[in-house]
Amino acid sequence: AAPITIASLSVMKSRGERIACLTCYDASFAHLLDRVGVDVLLVGDSLGMVIQGHATTLPVTLEQMIYHSAAVARGRKRALLVADLPFMTYATPEQAIASAARLMQEGGAEVIKLEGGAPMVETVRRMSELGIPVCAHLGLLPQSVNRLGGYRFQGRDPDSAERIRQEAQAMEEAGAVLMVLECVPAALARTISESLKIPVIGIGAGPDCDGQVLVLYDMLGLHPGKPPRFSRDFMAGGGEIGEAVAAYVAAVRTGQFPSPAETPY
Ligand code: KIV
Ligand code: NA
Repeated sequence: AAPITIASLSVMKSRGERIACLTCYDASFAHLLDRVGVDVLLVGDSLGMVIQGHATTLPVTLEQMIYHSAAVARGRKRALLVADLPFMTYATPEQAIASAARLMQEGGAEVIKLEGGAPMVETVRRMSELGIPVCAHLGLLPQSVNRLGGYRFQGRDPDSAERIRQEAQAMEEAGAVLMVLECVPAALARTISESLKIPVIGIGAGPDCDGQVLVLYDMLGLHPGKPPRFSRDFMAGGGEIGEAVAAYVAAVRTGQFPSPAETPY
């Protein structure tokens, strides 16, 4: 199959075909996820939690993101490779450009994801002008957990919903090619997905986004504690990892994931 590009994701959006994404941190899983049809592999800084065992994503370094991204790049053939800029590696546009360049040149990332709305618009504009494809990340921003005071749903009151909606629009206008919406009400995610031209990938954002993403280890039932309310254990009932991931891809494509029970707000 032809490699997935930003252009093919746009075609999927225009045809109403749902985009199946998962996080991925190593070459073996990259090979498996790619083989069963996952469209986008996200080397998320969630690796700080699920690989390294930290309580947050804050300790993750750019070197570590490059290391994992390069491993995933070697394992995949078709899926698009998106990688996160970790905490404090994009505090200025100049730093963001330098960090993104390393993640692309040394880590093989094809799209660079960063967290934040209005304060990041100028950075996204500058990166886009230089040819760096940017994935925006709005809603719950895990790198801001200490400022937010916990992992809380965002956009539940009209003012904050309107702010997120405007930030989404501004990100598209600044040149972002993709967007992740994390832990926002389904109705808000739906409005944003319908109004933006770029594909919107949801996590804890209801069924009406252009695609879905989950943390790989959550959907394989490897979460040590209570899994997030919006996740699903595709290994429940046993079986084989490839089958579980294929079931996830099928459930995203047919709109059967997430269910109402997996859509908290
Ligand atoms: O780091 C990550 O895994 C992410 C996804 C949850 C979107 O940013
Ligand atoms: Na992340």
